[in-house]
Amino acid sequence: MSSTPHTTTNSGAPVSSDAHSLTVGPDGPIVLHDHYLVEKLAQFNRERVPERVVHAKGGGAFGVLEVTEDVSQFTKAALFQPGARTEALARFSSVAGEQGSPDTWRDPRGFALKFYTTEGNYDLVGNNTPVFFLRDTIKFPDFIRSQKRLPGSNLRDHDMQWDFWTLSPESAHQVTWLMGDRGLPRSWRTMDGFGSHTYQWINAGGERFWVKYHFRTDQGHEFLTQADADQIAGEDADHHIRDLYEAIARGDAPSWTVHVQVMPYADAADYRFNPFDLTKVWPKGDYPLIKVGTLRLDRNPENYFAQIEQAAFEPSNFVPGIAASPDKMLLGRIFSYADAHRYRIGTNYAQLPVNAPKNDVHSYSKDGAMRFSYASPERPVYAPNSHGGPAAQPSLVGDAGWESDGELVRAAATLHAEDDDFGQAGTLVREVLDDAARDRLVGNIAGHVGQVKDAELRQRVYQYWRNVDETLGKRVEEAVGR
Ligand code: HEM
Repeated sequence: MSSTPHTTTNSGAPVSSDAHSLTVGPDGPIVLHDHYLVEKLAQFNRERVPERVVHAKGGGAFGVLEVTEDVSQFTKAALFQPGARTEALARFSSVAGEQGSPDTWRDPRGFALKFYTTEGNYDLVGNNTPVFFLRDTIKFPDFIRSQKRLPGSNLRDHDMQWDFWTLSPESAHQVTWLMGDRGLPRSWRTMDGFGSHTYQWINAGGERFWVKYHFRTDQGHEFLTQADADQIAGEDADHHIRDLYEAIARGDAPSWTVHVQVMPYADAADYRFNPFDLTKVWPKGDYPLIKVGTLRLDRNPENYFAQIEQAAFEPSNFVPGIAASPDKMLLGRIFSYADAHRYRIGTNYAQLPVNAPKNDVHSYSKDGAMRFSYASPERPVYAPNSHGGPAAQPSLVGDAGWESDGELVRAAATLHAEDDDFGQAGTLVREVLDDAARDRLVGNIAGHVGQVKDAELRQRVYQYWRNVDETLGKRVEEAVGR
């Protein structure tokens, strides 16, 4: 007897052949009642789910967040209590490219985390940059379309990208990051991660704070030059997926030291700029980094599709002690992701093992396509009820929130002295980058802008960079001219 298992149909019955369809004689037509053949072809046709509308190309791994410090004065969240160890999933990605696109195209990189905490899943869906191109959700679909493909030729287009950026000056800080070294990390292991938005933490006494997360790579920052990245894109489109997978497989588990910046709740009102503006960083001189612990990734997925492709990260997944802030980008994202998952994976995406919380779920959700978990038949399907069904306990969640009152308007807040578009981008260029990094920045921008066809648009691009930094703008124009 062979130890090889016998092939079965999806219903578990043995099949007669792995190689031959059922035909009328050896050369005759295939018959429709070859159910096994039909099942194979039909299943194959349905192997893909829609790729993510953004961040389609990515990879990930499992690991653990270990809290080594005491930040309980700022949050009561169980995962951030001293000594807590929480299982985690990370997915890294590029943004604009499709699923087969090269890992080394210039782009921000996604840094999405799911923590399977004792109080429910906490997802922190960030990037390798602390800021973003926009400060209002309503522009996100337009922004992404400008980065994707032209409707006619289906080609990516530098004119479209710079047209959008120059008409959206709030993008300047993030575009400066993107065109610099951080736009081409050597690997996912050698980049930092940021929660980017301002979030709210609430401690056991109900006191509120504003926080920003920083995951600093313990592997050291490493980047690719444009020339390296172009070469690798041709030789190994999956360079970053391979790097992470192979590092973990050989026992070289990458880690990040987790920090937060904490702003006292009351500071937000008259800080020098809107602290909920996603195009701004909080200077560390104002709010220093406070160490929390370490995130280590040490377990590769066993099945890419089930555990990474079907992973569903949601900025709406909060736990007691952590909540949203008035950031208009974050508030839009809180709607957008679960909606995307319902479309991409299906109504019951949260039941899949990679997405399901490790604690018990007592929600009143029921039914829907592919539902397989259900409560006991005695449990009522409605609330309130007088039959002992789950009942909300507001005290578990606490007093997350903020004061808000005013007319309904469509306007950006400009209450703070430094609510501008270009200031922090200029500081990044002048005070954070060294000479060599500034030279590379000029070269990278010039290489990109050199592909803009519209002469009037190029002038707008030079002005955009002059607004960031006069010298930088001049150098970019000269470099493109050469
Ligand atoms: C993925 C929407 C801004 C980080 C996605 C997806 C959508 C989306 C629909 C695909 C989700 C899926 O199909 O699984 C938006 C909207 C935004 C926004 C509407 C602006 C309002 C941001 C920002 C960040 C970010 C500011 C980072 C700070 C990510 C990451 C992923 C993602 C990392 C991939 C998650 C994964 O690995 O599955 N976004 N996004 N997005 N977004 Fe955003």
